[in-house]
Amino acid sequence: MEKREQMYEGKAKKVFATDDDSLCIVSYKDDATAFNGEKRGTIMGKGVINNRLTNRLMRLLMDNGIPTHFVEELSERDTLVRRVSIVPLEVIIRNISAGSFAKRYGVEEGIVFARPTIEFSYKNDELGDPLMNSYHALALGLATEEEIDTIKAYSFKINELLKAFLLEHGIELVDFKLEFGRLPDGTIVLADEISPDTCRFWDVETHEKLDKDRFRRDLGGVEDAYQEVMRRIIGD
Ligand code: TMP
Repeated sequence: MEKREQMYEGKAKKVFATDDDSLCIVSYKDDATAFNGEKRGTIMGKGVINNRLTNRLMRLLMDNGIPTHFVEELSERDTLVRRVSIVPLEVIIRNISAGSFAKRYGVEEGIVFARPTIEFSYKNDELGDPLMNSYHALALGLATEEEIDTIKAYSFKINELLKAFLLEHGIELVDFKLEFGRLPDGTIVLADEISPDTCRFWDVETHEKLDKDRFRRDLGGVEDAYQEVMRRIIGD
């Protein structure tokens, strides 16, 4: 597979064209941002860890009936994926209160929900990814009703699969963000990444934070936390 011109550069990844129109290469960077790009930094080795972790988790999901964009890991930082058009919705699933949920509703972090929640935000950096419900997404034509139903069903199933898998590795899945894409024939597949950048992971015993909140909140030990998640899930 030949890596061709860069098509896009995001905050944490670059996307390259290949000699096959239906495929592209995602390349993971060590750059980290928070608060819609206001806070910037580097997390050494993050790109390698997020690439490998994402691919491990994508494989788990594919083995359990979730279609994804994943094709093949090419190197430490590069992965071949199917080219999709991204549905401009960030899907957030929560099992335990934290982050913007705790802030918005004035509750402490760590409340374990009887049932998971789902929310959408409009993927739009200029607007700061505003929260929206499925009626707003439909009104703006961001997705069809059928696509939204599919995205919801996949997201809750992904939650159950990831929660169970991570628990086996001593990790509590607090919340996470997913993005979906459309293949040329309209099929919805999971895209983007599943990593400590896009999930909250807490140690099941101590509730220590093992994710990007260490960077967002200047807690220190950022690199160590990413390495610990990698060690638990993939090994050294
Ligand atoms: P929040 O509590 O800040 O809304 O974040 C919920 C989850 O979504 C958390 O696991 C981090 C993830 N997330 C992203 O992946 N990208 C983002 O831009 C934001 C705000 C959150």
